[in-house]
Amino acid sequence: MDIVTVTGVFNETKNIKTIRFKWAGRSKPGQFAMVWIPEVDEVPMSISFSGEESGITVLDVGEATWALHNLKPGDRIGIKGPLGKGFSITGKDILAVGGGSGTAALALAVESAIAKGKKVRCALGAKTSGELLFKKRFTDMGADVRVATDDGSEGHHGFVTQLAEKLIAKKKPDLIIACGPERMLAALTEVAAQHKIGIQCSLERYMKCGIGLCGSCQCGRYTVCADGPVFTGGQLAEMADFGKWKRDPSGRKMHC
Ligand SMILES: Cc1cc2nc3c(=O)[nH]c(=O)nc-3n(C[C@H](O)[C@H](O)[C@H](O)COP(=O)(O)OP(=O)(O)OC[C@H]3O[C@@H](n4cnc5c(N)ncnc54)[C@H](O)[C@@H]3O)c2cc1C
Ligand code: FES
Repeated sequence: MDIVTVTGVFNETKNIKTIRFKWAGRSKPGQFAMVWIPEVDEVPMSISFSGEESGITVLDVGEATWALHNLKPGDRIGIKGPLGKGFSITGKDILAVGGGSGTAALALAVESAIAKGKKVRCALGAKTSGELLFKKRFTDMGADVRVATDDGSEGHHGFVTQLAEKLIAKKKPDLIIACGPERMLAALTEVAAQHKIGIQCSLERYMKCGIGLCGSCQCGRYTVCADGPVFTGGQLAEMADFGKWKRDPSGRKMHC
């Protein structure tokens, strides 16, 4: 584990913050790290910024994420990683679909695809306009960004999967990459299969060890931490639990 010093904490939306830190680790798009907050917990977070200053982008949902939101420059945290298998970007025309804080997992993939000269369209979804993540960042990178909100306050009024279907109808992409709530990913995987488009989804399952040992993130014959978190449509089709069931910290099955 690397102990790193926080260099900045930035508001992204009203409940999402980015924590930046200097770290020698170099992440491939879609990889994650186990982030240790002293005296609190260790939690998995996608690497959302890489380079001179790395970063994670955090939605406040509980004790660990609240502690991350309250970090100050100069505070120290532990970073174990980069971990897992990320996105493998193929083709020229990419559709990136992000739901809520899941958009953080797509950031390095969008950045790297644009740097390689690929055409990237982004469909970003959130409950309301003020919760849309990385709309400006992706637009500034050169992506064509469209948004969907549940309350209709901005862009398409409804689910981001409906917006993605509209974009696919306009022009079929070579590849869809996605991260967000698992039911959203399951719906998107069906759309991709109907249109015969390759898809890669990043899953967020409850994790303890982060390195394939404890089994808490098991999904079918895969562990999300070591075999994923990014899986192809073919792998997802093998997982009977995908989009239906996940496990809570005690290992009990619960609806996604
Ligand atoms: C590979 C991976 C990458 C992730 N990347 C990010 C990221 O970039 N940004 C971000 O904000 N979050 C990310 N998460 C989710 C994040 O790890 C959890 O939100 C966090 O562990 C919750 O900790 P907590 O102590 O704040 O909340 P807790 O008090 O532990 O839980 C609060 C609520 O969050 C739910 N929760 C806990 N763990 C997870 C989990 N792993 N996935 C989904 N829900 C969970 C609980 O069921 C509960 O409802 C990622 C998860 C994984 C597995
Ligand atoms: S978190 Fe332990 S096997 Fe994945």
